[in-house]
Amino acid sequence: MQILLTRPADAPRQDLAAYREAGGFAAWNRAQELGPDGVLDLVEQAGLLGRGGASFPAARKWRIAAANVADQKYVVANGGEHEPGSEKDKHLVAKYPHAVLEGILLCCFATGATKGYLYLIEDMAEQIAAAEQALAELRDTGLLAFDIEIHRAPTTYVAGEETAAIDSIEGGAGKPKEKPPYPGEAGVHGKPTTVNNVETLAHVPFIVREGADAYRAIGTSDSPGTMLFTLGAEVNEPGVYELPFGATYRDLIEGCGGGTKSGRAVRAILPAMSSAFLGAEHLDTAIAHETLRPLGSSPGCGGVRLIEEGEDVVSRVADIAQFFMDEQCGQCPPCRMETNQLVHILAGVKAGKGPGYEAQIEKITTFARGRGRCSLIEMAAAPVVSAVKLFAADFAAAAGGE
Ligand SMILES: Cc1cc2nc3c(=O)[nH]c(=O)nc-3n(C[C@H](O)[C@H](O)[C@H](O)COP(=O)(O)O)c2cc1C
Ligand code: SF4
Repeated sequence: MQILLTRPADAPRQDLAAYREAGGFAAWNRAQELGPDGVLDLVEQAGLLGRGGASFPAARKWRIAAANVADQKYVVANGGEHEPGSEKDKHLVAKYPHAVLEGILLCCFATGATKGYLYLIEDMAEQIAAAEQALAELRDTGLLAFDIEIHRAPTTYVAGEETAAIDSIEGGAGKPKEKPPYPGEAGVHGKPTTVNNVETLAHVPFIVREGADAYRAIGTSDSPGTMLFTLGAEVNEPGVYELPFGATYRDLIEGCGGGTKSGRAVRAILPAMSSAFLGAEHLDTAIAHETLRPLGSSPGCGGVRLIEEGEDVVSRVADIAQFFMDEQCGQCPPCRMETNQLVHILAGVKAGKGPGYEAQIEKITTFARGRGRCSLIEMAAAPVVSAVKLFAADFAAAAGGE
């Protein structure tokens, strides 16, 4: 069941006429009958969870902004996707800009916002062009009920964090801010602001048009609906795929991706760069929050990476640690210390410098937890801590110089 990716992968941008033919803007008309509270109720009943990585309930966030009275309120559609291995938001904005824009309009309507921002990265030329064309089409047909501005953010990973997005929109460098206050209370220019991932918002037109029951009929009871996943060059058919929650990683990797290009068996799955590794025995585990949480992992943003049999696991994990060290923004000493130390310790393991690395990793990541302005500090730890456990023999062999 496809909610979002309803056209062939190589189809051109869905223009307004094609979007309306497929049911686009029926939700907007229905919202006028329901009123803002009716839309909020539907989003809550549908159980929509954020698709930006943290899976926060969308309605809970919307209600906070809706309850705060202010002369100006904002919606930020976060398309600042900069995680290596994740392409789904770029695909959505380039190919289905109207689903995202209708989602922004519905969120503005439900929360009482006066303006929306489509938050993209300055180097996303295709996405910016698609969104500009789509906005022009809405303007020409009188469907742009609220002002929507495209914001071009700097090309950094942290700029995708929600308060960094707000900082960038306000003219800052795009770095995370102290919380509280949370955006729903005081976001852009100190006004109540709802920040959602672009995929989260693109699910809303279906929910409002078809109803919460129709949405809940897809996926699992605790993880309703579908989710977009990205498969990279490791598989025969790389691309962005939409699957209902409850499908398995085997469905994704073999069914959609055609299996590994090398023909080697999958040894482990990394559901997203900032999630914890899952062993190959979980290829048949249902992808859902309630199944991955007890395993210490999460679907994250769905940028799936694979470890194949015979690969140098320690080097792969060291590369991930290096990414987080390079991308942390330097504002919080514990985050600088943690990400630097992880790189240093893993370099030691690679150089065969003996035991002790496990305890050091445990100590540093435990100390750093919760001490950052943003959750990059936890995101950097998850893949490393899980890898050291899952691939204990590989790490021990490397550290022992075997
Ligand atoms: C370092 C970092 C980078 C992030 N990058 C993105 C991003 O590119 N896109 C995104 O939607 N959320 C990103 N997030 C999560 C956002 O802070 C926020 O949770 C999300 O936009 C909320 O949308 P959702 O509730 O719809 O998932 C990032 C978080 C962190 C800590
Ligand atoms: S936790 Fe790390 S990335 Fe986040 S604000 Fe602090 S230094 Fe920057």
